[in-house]
Amino acid sequence: MKRLGTFLIALTMTASMVSCSSKSSSSTNEQDKEFYGRGRTVGIALPAQNLERWNRDGAFLKEQFEAVGCKVDLKYADNDKDKQIEDVQSMIDEGVQLLLIAAVDKDNLSHTLNNAKEAGIPVVAYDRLIMNTDAVTYYVSFDNYMVGTIQGQYIEEKLKFNETDNTYNIEFVGGDELDNNARFFFNGAYDYLSSYINSGKLNIVSGKNTFEQVATEEWSTDNARNNMKQVLADNYSDGKTLDAVICANDSTALGVTEAVQSNYSGSNHPLIVGQDGDVENLKNIVDGSQDMTVFKNVNDEAKVTLEICKLILSNETPSVSLLENLHVNVKYDTSSYNNGVKYIQSYLLAPYAVDKDNLQSLVDTGIYKWDSNNKYLEIAK
Ligand code: GAL
Repeated sequence: MKRLGTFLIALTMTASMVSCSSKSSSSTNEQDKEFYGRGRTVGIALPAQNLERWNRDGAFLKEQFEAVGCKVDLKYADNDKDKQIEDVQSMIDEGVQLLLIAAVDKDNLSHTLNNAKEAGIPVVAYDRLIMNTDAVTYYVSFDNYMVGTIQGQYIEEKLKFNETDNTYNIEFVGGDELDNNARFFFNGAYDYLSSYINSGKLNIVSGKNTFEQVATEEWSTDNARNNMKQVLADNYSDGKTLDAVICANDSTALGVTEAVQSNYSGSNHPLIVGQDGDVENLKNIVDGSQDMTVFKNVNDEAKVTLEICKLILSNETPSVSLLENLHVNVKYDTSSYNNGVKYIQSYLLAPYAVDKDNLQSLVDTGIYKWDSNNKYLEIAK
């Protein structure tokens, strides 16, 4: 309650300094009334609901902002970059006091965000960086390069690269090229494994060794399945062993798992790793058809985002020290994410590997619960 009180006082003070909306109010009293009555409005533009994690992000962000008196305009763009432009412009026209955006397309929001800047609306890039605009002040995400590194480390550990003279065959499955994160995921994994690839210990039999060659449009499970079926048909139909597939997230890992189950003729189980902790993939981890997912606690991401947004709306400058009371492992970074205009002040949370041995850690986050048979995980609410 103390923090809420502090927040309301800070926002009241701000209300007299800056317009509560892009529409000017006639007097401070009206601003206070508007502020106390309706609170502030935050526009939250997310990419899609068919990608499971964004439903968790949206629900938790909305809940957290409403809990501190904000109204929330939450919109999902169905992975349609043009619809997202309409979503964001409608929020600007509505006069929101802050925009929180996870971009469908990293490159196509520049013009729209210039409109936000002209309207005096601060913009926070959420989870995915937005390119070629100076309207973005802060970026809150996870260490996306680390996501890939963790995947590479997992493969190295489970296949015991350093304990045998064996060589191994692996394939990469990337994310959507429109998503700035996807390249970071691929680079993190590829860079970690590059010494093994260069020495011949690891073979990418398909020869697909660049992000562009392994990208998956819209992160689609169908596209990942079809692409993997083609890779298997072209390169593994002669009985060659496939030892591991590194998938940029769980929706693509789902497609890869289905392709391996239906079209891989080898006798071994290729290691399959993903990201996000999607419920269907967690079932596959319990059943053994997927091996690991890199988990990112999106509730923590939302908490850090809320704290930064509260400070922005209070005309304070967020810094990591102000986030300490959140008890979240977050690092402040000003040198990893250049959006084509400037290095964006970034707050990066820490991902970690989840497999059948530490599924309980997901329940401990409060996001998941065990099902009635104590066998599979479900979303807790
Ligand atoms: C990325 C996000 C990942 C993954 C993917 C598909 O930007 O960081 O967690 O879910 O989008 O939504």
